[in-house]
Amino acid sequence: MTSEQVGGVWPLIPAEGLPPTGALVGIDWLSGGAFYCDPIGWTLHNTAGVTNPNMMIFGAPGRGKSSAVKTIALRLMAYGYRTLILGDVKDEYEGLCRALGVSPHAVGPGLPARINPLDFGPLGRDWTHLGREEAARRAAIVFARWLQLLRGLVGSQKVPFGPTAESAVGQILRDLTGYATGATSLTEITIPQVWQALCDPTPQLVTGCRYRSRQHFLDDTRGVRDALGALVHGHLGGLFDAPTTVKVDWRAPIQSLSLSRLEPLGDEAVGIALMALNSWGRAMTDVPHLSGHQPSGQVDLRVVVRDEAWKQMRLGEQAVASLDADLRLSRRDGAIQIVVAHKPSDMLTVGDAGSAAVAIAKELLHLCSTKVLLGQDEAIGDELSGLLGLTPMASGIVTGWATGGRGRALWVVGSRQFQVSGILTATETALTDTNNAITPSAPRGLSPVVPSDDSAAGAASR
Ligand SMILES: Nc1ncnc2c1ncn2[C@@H]1O[C@H](COP(=O)(O)OP(=O)(O)O)[C@@H](O)[C@H]1O
Ligand SMILES: [Mg+2]
Repeated sequence: MTSEQVGGVWPLIPAEGLPPTGALVGIDWLSGGAFYCDPIGWTLHNTAGVTNPNMMIFGAPGRGKSSAVKTIALRLMAYGYRTLILGDVKDEYEGLCRALGVSPHAVGPGLPARINPLDFGPLGRDWTHLGREEAARRAAIVFARWLQLLRGLVGSQKVPFGPTAESAVGQILRDLTGYATGATSLTEITIPQVWQALCDPTPQLVTGCRYRSRQHFLDDTRGVRDALGALVHGHLGGLFDAPTTVKVDWRAPIQSLSLSRLEPLGDEAVGIALMALNSWGRAMTDVPHLSGHQPSGQVDLRVVVRDEAWKQMRLGEQAVASLDADLRLSRRDGAIQIVVAHKPSDMLTVGDAGSAAVAIAKELLHLCSTKVLLGQDEAIGDELSGLLGLTPMASGIVTGWATGGRGRALWVVGSRQFQVSGILTATETALTDTNNAITPSAPRGLSPVVPSDDSAAGAASR
């Protein structure tokens, strides 16, 4: 064939690999060399057109998504990155935390830990000393986050949340915090207070939002009340309804918020908890010093992990939009945000093939310049080409080669693609083993983890 055709026949053969910076991941099968993951470095140097350090990891269950996250986080720690696990649904990050000398924070029914999704986070600090402009700027960010969370919560109950109800809620948030009355320090509020204000609206609120009557107000905001009710009285009562008690130690190598106690409540409850936690996590990592008002310019390097995010995505368009908003921050605050899902269509809830949902899903994918596609069933092939725009050959790698061993993946880095098999060290294999639950009676001394061909190849090449 001519050289013009070669590129069409072997489109995946790259000229050269990526620079060897960041976390070593494993073997790049096309170049035969080592493959490194350095999303912040890639963003700073605009490598392969990477415009943000966010990563999205897809793969069928058991393919090695969480293990990939754990090893990347662990290996980046050597470069000063600290990790925050926003919602460990199955307590699978606990081993890694304990190995690093850290105990996870457990959130669950009957436990003392509370997370207030309406926390101001660092943006609420030193409010009294802020100039008017800066106070207004920060208030806009905080109120927008809260409204996005509330929209997501209401949307998850499949009830309408119209513009009037939304402006009523916005007014309640401004009233309760004292922002509406120009208070010099803002009062922290909680979801039960918002719920209470919706159940018993003041006459000023009813007329101020141009409702015909108190009854009209109550009818119109019913969906919001019911959705908030889940966090006040429902399954999730006692978790997200009081000021935050969890103290995140930002100097520790890793911090994890365990949600495993919620697992028996079902995917929807876990999804809602993840949404509340993600929104809170966004507040906690929104650092005011990057607003240009402090000269230091020093950035904390972080890895923020949202494993099992598909449970949140399934809750509907607004829940995806909420996740989308959470990811937008990272570019300016030095965080690598890692979102883990099963397949691209997790972002489209059942019956959601409509253009708005697809547009939001594509937007979210766009917010993650790096995608790691671990093995998938054949049936997912269409989605890979449709939503991700992969060529047939690239989706063939995901549905074929990548299913041949754990940790094998197609890495989409900006505009480039790499066929990589992730290699775990013996220590990491022990730390990431999620199969131990199903092999409880394995005889002592007999390791349940059989080294795959890839790790043998790794050893050979080393
Ligand atoms: N690259 C790899 N090499 C060998 N074993 C792996 C690799 N990646 C994952 N595993 C093993 O596969 C199992 C499932 O991995 P896990 O990360 O929990 O999958 P997922 O999060 O996709 O469900 C774990 O026991 C883990 O130790
Ligand atoms: Mg997992």
